[in-house]
Amino acid sequence: MGWDCPGAVQFTPEGRAEELHQRAAELTPLTEHDIADRLRILQDQPASWTTPGEHWSLGGQQEKFALTWLEDQWHEAGGSAATTHIIKPGIKVLHHQALVEHVTMRAAAATGVSVADSRLLPFEDQWAIVIDRFDRVTVFDKVFRLHQEDFCQALGRLPERKYESVGGPGLRDMADLVRKQLTDPEDGLRALADFLAVNLVAGAPDGHAKNISLILAPDGNRSIAPLYDLASGLTYDPEAVERTVALSIGGERIFSRIRGKQWRKAAGILKLDTDLLTQRVATMAEAFPGAFETALAEIADAPGTPEVAERTLPALRQHCSEVLARLDE
Ligand SMILES: Nc1ncnc2c1ncn2[C@@H]1O[C@H](COP(=O)(O)OP(=O)(O)OP(=O)(O)O)[C@@H](O)[C@H]1O
Ligand SMILES: [Mg+2]
Repeated sequence: MGWDCPGAVQFTPEGRAEELHQRAAELTPLTEHDIADRLRILQDQPASWTTPGEHWSLGGQQEKFALTWLEDQWHEAGGSAATTHIIKPGIKVLHHQALVEHVTMRAAAATGVSVADSRLLPFEDQWAIVIDRFDRVTVFDKVFRLHQEDFCQALGRLPERKYESVGGPGLRDMADLVRKQLTDPEDGLRALADFLAVNLVAGAPDGHAKNISLILAPDGNRSIAPLYDLASGLTYDPEAVERTVALSIGGERIFSRIRGKQWRKAAGILKLDTDLLTQRVATMAEAFPGAFETALAEIADAPGTPEVAERTLPALRQHCSEVLARLDE
């Protein structure tokens, strides 16, 4: 593990760097059946994520694997090969979670947030979310790595501290980093504001500091990467009384306490114009339920779409109208 990581770093045990340099990309073509089998195995034995020839490594709690899409074909990436896509079957204990994640990301994109591209695809009877890696660029059948670091890495915090509630980075730490490190800090602060806003508007509980990254473009431009791992929680647990975002907004994480005052505080921390920020949140909250519905309609043939629509849309409409109303309080 470690020869193909998030970003452009590669890790190797001491003494094996030469092997890493010398081994070419070893790409093994996979059939749809092979991928379906990998998804099935993932369901049964989540520990066995990689096959022996693979060297990729990705963070995160959910089952996943990474493959390379090259010449209109999926490949297992061996040797020094870089993977181009992340494939996740969804969180097992939450019905149709991959579908919810895909639809949330598409809806966010439709409301103007920069989000990684994803598709929901069947491999035989196994459906999974397939996410384009924004830290890979394919040029004439060669895959190049771009460096990325998530906000825990960039701030030197361990993964155990990814949530602000357990001592992880807060908005102020993240904003300071953006101001110090990004080529266009203003643009970065607006992207950080979008991360706050879209997690609240989507009712997404997991926007922690490892779910947002910085990316270094080949021309040296440092910016916030497209968002990823964005999924509404409103589909699940309809009885939940106190829903929260992971990263506090103006000092509050509980949805019902995030009002105009908290957004004004957040604007102060981000040093963004208060009216522009609240207008952005309002526009997003107005558009999001419709965008979610449209994104669902685009995958109407996927199993679970009607249930997800039925469970999510009423809750989402209610939630977004509350987010809007609280902006004036
Ligand atoms: N589209 C992408 N392009 C490049 N890297 C990505 C992309 N999506 C995710 N990653 C990287 O892979 C890691 C794991 O992905 P992801 O966050 O989707 O997994 P997860 O297991 O659902 O995470 P969590 O533990 O937050 O639920 C991310 O932390 C990030 O470093
Ligand atoms: Mg994640």
